[in-house]
Amino acid sequence: MGACKKSLSAIGKGRKRLVMLGGKGGVGKTTCAAAIALYMAETGRKTLILSSDPTPSLSDIFEISVGAQETSIPNASNLTALEISSEIVLQKWKERFGPEIYEVVSSFADLDYDFVLDYVGGAPGIEEEYMLYYIMELVREGRYDQVIWDSAPAGHTLQLLHLPDIFLRHLEGATRFYLNIYSYLERAKEVVKLQKGKSSLLDIISGWQDLSGQIAAFIRDERSTEYILVTIPEALGVKQTERIIQDFDAHGLPVHYLIINHVVEEADCAFHRMRKEMQSHYIRLLSEEYGERFQLVLLPLSPNEIKGIERIRRVSHLLFS
Ligand SMILES: Nc1ncnc2c1ncn2[C@@H]1O[C@H](COP(=O)(O)OP(=O)(O)OP(=O)(O)O)[C@@H](O)[C@H]1O
Ligand SMILES: [Mg+2]
Repeated sequence: MGACKKSLSAIGKGRKRLVMLGGKGGVGKTTCAAAIALYMAETGRKTLILSSDPTPSLSDIFEISVGAQETSIPNASNLTALEISSEIVLQKWKERFGPEIYEVVSSFADLDYDFVLDYVGGAPGIEEEYMLYYIMELVREGRYDQVIWDSAPAGHTLQLLHLPDIFLRHLEGATRFYLNIYSYLERAKEVVKLQKGKSSLLDIISGWQDLSGQIAAFIRDERSTEYILVTIPEALGVKQTERIIQDFDAHGLPVHYLIINHVVEEADCAFHRMRKEMQSHYIRLLSEEYGERFQLVLLPLSPNEIKGIERIRRVSHLLFS
């Protein structure tokens, strides 16, 4: 077990602007994200912790109402939190792309603005794609030195991270589809009316393609992005971690850290001795499988639930000392 008692201190030195925490449900992603964000903030970096979880819990852990506005965390210098909801993301997408979409659609159909945007915005994947765009913009704007992204449980987030590729393929299809329709209509002598629409719609599609390409590159860029996986030393934790790592590898997402949470340190009764023994087995497995490749960091199970700045700070010390 001693071999994997490392800390996260290299993360601070690496100066990755975006640090994303992933893992299955309930393993401690939010707890670790809060502790990492607090550490970064208190070592002098202007830090934003953001949650893309549909049921975010930053408000609970920081014991302050966070929500969709960037909210300063009291008693923690340099730390701001934000819970982004799908509705807000979709609203921002409409503000960003609404006018150009409407311009194109209204060149060949007389439809209501909101109807057009609700319809196009309802296309599968747009919301998730824009969530990534939104996060990328927050990082690129440079208002924060560090953005810590507390993600939703694995399945949801992986879907999000696969999206730029799916979206790119979808857009290639959309371009072909549009060109087919256009050539059909052209034959039907509608050219004059459609001339403007053709070029601007293709411009929009290629603009989206460019954006998707940028997002796909951004989430893989080791110079700016770091992924930390969180797991627990139990059979299910180990199995799911294997699957998540395979998925991250398949998409070229750079993972360098694996936090093993809920580790029982002191065992002074039969119950805890059994748990400790069970956990040792899985810690050994994880260590054999990933010890060479990742920094494995053990986080002890605390007797208290982790809420409020003082307890979060204690977790920071455990992770970074
Ligand atoms: N090391 C620990 N010691 C004690 N309690 C812990 C520890 N880590 C996490 N917890 C507790 O476990 C619960 C789940 O943790 P957390 O919310 O961080 O998990 P999560 O992975 O973000 O969950 P979700 O997938 O639902 O977002 C919380 O009540 C938290 O206080
Ligand atoms: Mg969480």
